[in-house]
Amino acid sequence: MGVEVRVEGLTKSFGSQNIWSDVTLTLPPGEISVLLGPSGTGKSVFLKSLVGLLKPERGSIVIKDTDIVRTSEHRLYEVRKLFGVLFQDGALFGSMNLFDNIAFPLREHTRKSESDIRWIVLEKMDMVGLQGAEGKLPGEISGGMRKRAGLARALVLDPEIILFDEPDSGLDPVRVAYLNQLIVDLNAQIDATFLIVTHDIGTARTVPDNLGLLFRRHLAMFGPREQLLTSQEPVVRQFLNGRREGPIGMSEEKDVAQVEAEMAALEARGGDQHNGVGPKGASGGDAVPPQLEPSPGLPERQAQRRRQERVARMLHEFDPATAQAIRASLPEDLLAQADAGVFAPTPLAGGRHWAAESAPAGGAAVLPGPRGRS
Ligand SMILES: Nc1ncnc2c1ncn2[C@@H]1O[C@H](COP(=O)(O)OP(=O)(O)OP(=O)(O)O)[C@@H](O)[C@H]1O
Ligand SMILES: [Mg+2]
Repeated sequence: MGVEVRVEGLTKSFGSQNIWSDVTLTLPPGEISVLLGPSGTGKSVFLKSLVGLLKPERGSIVIKDTDIVRTSEHRLYEVRKLFGVLFQDGALFGSMNLFDNIAFPLREHTRKSESDIRWIVLEKMDMVGLQGAEGKLPGEISGGMRKRAGLARALVLDPEIILFDEPDSGLDPVRVAYLNQLIVDLNAQIDATFLIVTHDIGTARTVPDNLGLLFRRHLAMFGPREQLLTSQEPVVRQFLNGRREGPIGMSEEKDVAQVEAEMAALEARGGDQHNGVGPKGASGGDAVPPQLEPSPGLPERQAQRRRQERVARMLHEFDPATAQAIRASLPEDLLAQADAGVFAPTPLAGGRHWAAESAPAGGAAVLPGPRGRS
């Protein structure tokens, strides 16, 4: 089963440039989470911090009882083996063919025989649609193929935590649809904890259990996908609808008067409901489309029931629109329990959207800025 990742009060700067402060969230075990955010808000820096490649100056990242911000190099090396990571640039070795690139973690971290390695590598290449390309060098293949080679390499060690940094960038829309299905299928097969950074709103709407948004050096929101998809928070709505009007500017933040004027003009045109379909799968309104399911013949996602129980406990914390969207995803038995008051109300937990049973269960994070309706 995937492991929980607990991030608390995380702050990262490079010299005098603060990237983000006080990021607190928990990736529930085996669930799929998506992290969104304007370019340059530090999504890649966040992923690199999770694997211990960058050192945040404050806060903690606890994985299997180890705070990897503070642990020894030796322990960090061990914890890293839990991760499968696809970096934004793919990071393949240019002088090695795809087979050797994908085999690299196995040769580095295991004592498997070459025949076992061959079997695993070919299986993963098949999984991502690269059969027959073993002998190609990274320079000889398309950008999309390099991406998928990076995916295959991220999977060879049977990771318990999977981090994908824009796995869909540079892929055509059909490949993105296949990739999204692959992610859900993988999750059903290995029950690992996924965190995916993407700019594709179609993916963000349909793939994950949880959604988060980084903005202005903070985690603006992190919670069940229904929470963000129904949110009235201006920055969340602007991002999910892929429009110019709102707090996010081209290169920097806009001033309040400008945002207010833009929003008034938008309302006069009918608001987001009349936005039509924006770039990268962004769409008008706050509908919550069904979540993608594993392909026929695959097991159910083990995280599904855990997630249903988790959000059933949190129902009372959400505004009516979010609660209604979540209820639509719950089975009868959990709805009945929630309505019978079986789940004791839990206090909000300072931005953590979820905590293990022993700790006070978490509230919806809205940090900082206006609380809006969310
Ligand atoms: N090693 C580093 N040293 C100094 N600054 C860095 C380093 N890595 C990243 N940065 C800075 O941190 C900020 C966030 O970068 P990051 O790559 O995480 O953004 P991002 O959200 O992933 O953007 P995009 O959506 O374009 O990929 C940028 O201003 C970048 O210049
Ligand atoms: Mg990035």
